[in-house]
Amino acid sequence: MATPVIAILGTGSYAPARVMTNAELAKLVDTSDDWITSRSGIRERRIAAANETTSDLATHAAQAALTDAGLTANDIDLLLVATCTPDMLMPACATLVQHRLGISSRAACFDLNAACTGFVYALDTAWAMLASGRYRHALVIGAEKMSTILDWQDRTTCVLFGDGAGATILGPSRGDGARIIGTKLHSEGGKYELLHVPAGGSARPASTETISDRAHFIKMKGKEVFKNAVREMEDAVREILEQHALSPDQIACVIPHQANVRIIEAVSKSLDLPLSRFIINLDRYGNTSAASIPLALDEARRTQRLHRGDTSLLVAFGAGLTYGSALVRW
Ligand code: ACO
Repeated sequence: MATPVIAILGTGSYAPARVMTNAELAKLVDTSDDWITSRSGIRERRIAAANETTSDLATHAAQAALTDAGLTANDIDLLLVATCTPDMLMPACATLVQHRLGISSRAACFDLNAACTGFVYALDTAWAMLASGRYRHALVIGAEKMSTILDWQDRTTCVLFGDGAGATILGPSRGDGARIIGTKLHSEGGKYELLHVPAGGSARPASTETISDRAHFIKMKGKEVFKNAVREMEDAVREILEQHALSPDQIACVIPHQANVRIIEAVSKSLDLPLSRFIINLDRYGNTSAASIPLALDEARRTQRLHRGDTSLLVAFGAGLTYGSALVRW
């Protein structure tokens, strides 16, 4: 059997209605709009309602992606949700989304956690599973309710993140040249403490002590993460371009993980890739972790930033540490 050529057939995204501005944050913690904007580029973020879960955000984005691809829930036989904020520890958020969408029981549904790199990991995984010929159409989602793991008393982290979801449909290319060209994933587990949530897992199960320690929230060594992020994103881009014999000027559009505009500017400069080719929406959404790339990708398509024949580059880094890249032709 010939290996099928796999393409992104549709995209969709969803952001909660509630906008939280930097000025509002300045009422919660000792910060200012000026500090947040100048250090990160973030002006506002979306915060999900108390009764709105990660699977709710994912379901909205998935419905938009299905419509965009001209497919129905019935066509999906593989569903992956990249998230580090699932509705509950088990079962997987993916099975909840399956149920909400009415996807049939013959579909394989599971979650994948590679933090902010989660969507690129899920794309690689779904691509390989579809290329095997054993599955036909995959729904690949990045969805996060980061607001639930933020310490709203910690100004060094709570100003950076937001909630949202982005979804893509992967399937056999429709013969127009669109396809996934390549992916490359990396991890450095020795650096896990740079960015982690210490409690709530098997290492430190929930207890009155973990709650009083505020150990269920994100702990981050911001400066170290920043340095690693710039280096790893540069390496990930250089590596994948070299692997596919492409030069930076052949990349029409870069869709980077949306953590900090200064990280994106540093990568743009060192790789000699003009900033105008980068999709940047972190000013409006902050860092939505695994949702950030599919959210930006959907925005890029809707705002006509991607054209037929264009090669785009997706590049992410996150807790783990993890990092990775993907090349997609449209
Ligand atoms: N408001 C005001 N002051 C603040 C705030 C705030 N929100 N946060 C920190 N400060 C203070 C610090 O306390 C420090 O004060 P001090 O000099 O008196 O000690 C000062 O501002 C400077 O802090 P730095 O940490 O040096 O600031 P920096 O320029 O490094 O920016 C930032 C901090 C924005 C966190 C940056 O390091 C960064 O973006 N790091 C990467 C974070 C990231 O991308 N994380 C997501 C990873 S992806 C994932 O998987 C989740």
